[in-house]
Amino acid sequence: MEIKKITVLGAGLMGAGIAQTAAQAGFDVSIRDMEERLVENGIAAIKSNLDRMVKKGKLDKDEVQNIMGRIRGTIDLKEAAQDADMVIEAIIEVMEIKKQVYKELDTICKKETIFATNTSGLSITEMASVTQRPGQVIGMHFFNPVPVMRLVELIKGFSTTEETLGIAKAFVEKIKKTSIEVKEAPGFAVNRILVPMLNEAVFVFAEGIASAKDIDDGMMLGANHPIGPLALLDLVGLDTILLVIEGFHKELGEDKYRPAPLLRKMVRAGHLGRKSGKGFYDYTK
Ligand code: CAA
Ligand code: NAD
Repeated sequence: MEIKKITVLGAGLMGAGIAQTAAQAGFDVSIRDMEERLVENGIAAIKSNLDRMVKKGKLDKDEVQNIMGRIRGTIDLKEAAQDADMVIEAIIEVMEIKKQVYKELDTICKKETIFATNTSGLSITEMASVTQRPGQVIGMHFFNPVPVMRLVELIKGFSTTEETLGIAKAFVEKIKKTSIEVKEAPGFAVNRILVPMLNEAVFVFAEGIASAKDIDDGMMLGANHPIGPLALLDLVGLDTILLVIEGFHKELGEDKYRPAPLLRKMVRAGHLGRKSGKGFYDYTK
């Protein structure tokens, strides 16, 4: 099957990045969120990213119009998804909410439509179980910021077919990213390694072992990370990382995945990182 029309669910950090990347590669994209305001914010983020590329001489001004012309925003799930060849879901990392969406999508989409989830580590098999098309459900895990990061993890659920995997691989190639195939397990490969490190950085900070800046400088200068772990938490979103590490703790049942209490406290206080203006650093000034 040839993929032409993509629907992206969620116009947040990841949804906007995925929609931008797909539209830049020539796909027609519908992007859907729950409120007009959220859809508009997502589309504005895409426009501002593209404008920055023009300023840097990396993109032609006319191209911006063409790319933006391929993106439609809506709050109506049916309007967004009924003619999609592939739906890429990038909504909140909560299984019950994702399952509710997949149940609804299954009744709206064409029978051959592929469902790809950008979950950071939840079970593909569980999401697929509420659909009549478990063979066509796959994990397609992008990295933040999507337009910059080159990797996509592809994860087969229990019933995902080789054909679905092949279509997903071809799509990743068309958007000029590199895929790796990973078995279904909490956090897949990259987050299983990365997220406990981020959680540990919060423990180190909370125990007063070093300041936020020194922890981040330490990991940049001492381990050659492009940004420090606390800055990365702010980029990804503390709420998302808390949901991911809670998922590891629940699924894998080991104390080493216990969320840092300070992480939970900051999320409760609404300090989610860049997206809320405050996290380990202040972005309001
Ligand atoms: N969207 C588009 N482009 C962006 C961007 C964004 N949000 N943020 C930065 N960029 C671009 C910049 O325009 C710049 O482009 P050029 O090189 O073409 O000029 C380039 O990225 C570098 O940006 P900066 O010079 O502003 O800053 P930097 O050198 O610090 O790079 C960074 C920024 C790419 C984010 C870099 O710090 C980095 O790679 N950080 C680590 C990111 C990472 O680990 N991501 C994975 C998170 S985990 C995850 O995503 C999985 C999960 O499930 C939670
Ligand atoms: P976000 O909070 O920035 O955006 C999520 C968006 O989904 C919000 O705008 C929300 O209104 C919307 N939403 C919620 N329910 C919806 C529904 N039923 N239909 C449509 N939209 C709905 O979150 P994010 O960081 O973009 O994360 C989205 C997904 O991507 C999560 O599963 C997350 O684990 C995963 N992910 C995140 C990152 C990251 O670095 N933040 C990286 C890789 C994967």
